[in-house]
Amino acid sequence: MTDTQLAIVILAAGQGTRMKSSLPKVLHPIGGRPLVAHVISTARDLDAAYVRVVVRHERDRVAEAIDDGGADLQIVDQDEIPGTGRAVEVALQQLPGDFGGDVLVLSGDVPLLEASELAELIAAHRASGAAATLLSARMPDPTGYGRVVRAADGTVERIVEQKDASADEAAIDEINAGVYVFRAAQLRAHIGAVGTANSQGERYLTDVIGLLRAAGDQVAATVAPDPRVALGVNDRIQLAEAARILNDRIVRRWQREGVTVMDPATTWIDETVTLAPDVTVRPNTQLLRATVVATGAVIGPDTTLTDCEVGEHARVTRTDGTLAVIGARASVGPFAYLRPGTYLGADGKIGTFVETKNARIGDASKVPHLSYVGDAEVGVGANIGAGTIVANYDGVAKHRTEVGDHVRTGSHNVFVAPVRIGDGAYTGAGTVVRKDVPPGALALLAAPQRNIEGWVGRSRPGTAAAEAAERAEQGGQEED
Ligand code: UD1
Ligand code: CA
Repeated sequence: MTDTQLAIVILAAGQGTRMKSSLPKVLHPIGGRPLVAHVISTARDLDAAYVRVVVRHERDRVAEAIDDGGADLQIVDQDEIPGTGRAVEVALQQLPGDFGGDVLVLSGDVPLLEASELAELIAAHRASGAAATLLSARMPDPTGYGRVVRAADGTVERIVEQKDASADEAAIDEINAGVYVFRAAQLRAHIGAVGTANSQGERYLTDVIGLLRAAGDQVAATVAPDPRVALGVNDRIQLAEAARILNDRIVRRWQREGVTVMDPATTWIDETVTLAPDVTVRPNTQLLRATVVATGAVIGPDTTLTDCEVGEHARVTRTDGTLAVIGARASVGPFAYLRPGTYLGADGKIGTFVETKNARIGDASKVPHLSYVGDAEVGVGANIGAGTIVANYDGVAKHRTEVGDHVRTGSHNVFVAPVRIGDGAYTGAGTVVRKDVPPGALALLAAPQRNIEGWVGRSRPGTAAAEAAERAEQGGQEED
């Protein structure tokens, strides 16, 4: 094996007690993906011969989340001996015994580092010939991190954890990012010697730094130019910080690609989203998971789209949508709720206070106001009257409704599924459609209206209504 081979060890076995969560810490998401998934995909961008991910707490859940199918990625189980040092030790045992390259150690809870930064760390390590090179950062508030203790000549001497630090050491603002490159041979030589003489009784990987120095080996540190990349997530406050930093990055990336983001502070875009140039994102908008937005579309304000596809020049306002497809130039909202399986054709409209589910609404068809459309297919050029409910559920099973091309339905209809309204048909206001309507027919369900003359005057004498009626009967609208 060549000397320049790289093995990557990712530490993800901890519980993350400070999160106070039933979800393992490394599975908490930012930018739509678990913390550890960010670390793994960064690792994937480096040319590593081996990737080992160490798991223990909620082992199966974590293992499932990190399995990206790569043959070189192997999960390693940590035993009951706690500590980052032990985690690395068990990972080393799962590398070929003669592996003589470099070992890059990454923390599953340090999600913001990019592959280029790690590549620089590795390059600096190889150029200096040090036995270990760690990534450090000068944190405005170093509380909670291990501190980098340097000797009088400025070289790295050891790392001391917050809980074990003296007052002087705690005042050091250079922190250990939890990311290191080791020469495999030197790491192997010292990892077994790491003890538990610390406040947590754990085997700290950080002790290897001091052991290497004591053995006369050279240890180097690269200070991250921007301390934010070294942010470690131990609690929910840091989780929100990391999510914010990642989001700022994603928003800026899309701005550089030609997307107008009116209010970056209230716009959240998952890493997995795709936007075209000349998309406009208005304030208070979340674009999540596999959402794709085509050029010229305007999304927001106050809109959440999860796994949605939005066509060119569509407008989506104050809308909540999941697994919905919105056609080119279509208009959605304000106050629309698109549930999974919604498909709106080009130039279509899903308007105000409309809920749709598993519904295919054809090109140029409109559902403009106050309606529910579920388990339905609407043809092209149709108009569904205000206040229409598709009664798709009989209490036991869901049934489908079909509405043909260029249908015009009246206001306040109920379509009792299964039912079909043929092409070009009309329905009157207030129709409860229980029977199929043939193409071109007008369906009416209208009992003749009965007016009982003078009822208000007789039955509600002295009321404002009776007085108004009396004035109207006397022929004048004005007060006398
Ligand atoms: C660790 C470092 C600290 C550094 C900080 C950077 C040690 C002893 N301390 O502290 O110097 O400033 O990271 O963020 O390494 N893990 C395991 N097995 C274990 C324990 C932890 O795999 O037995 C994993 C965790 O899941 C986590 C990572 O290692 O992903 C770091 O563990 P954590 O407990 O968060 O260490 P810190 O206290 O943050
Ligand atoms: Ca941590």
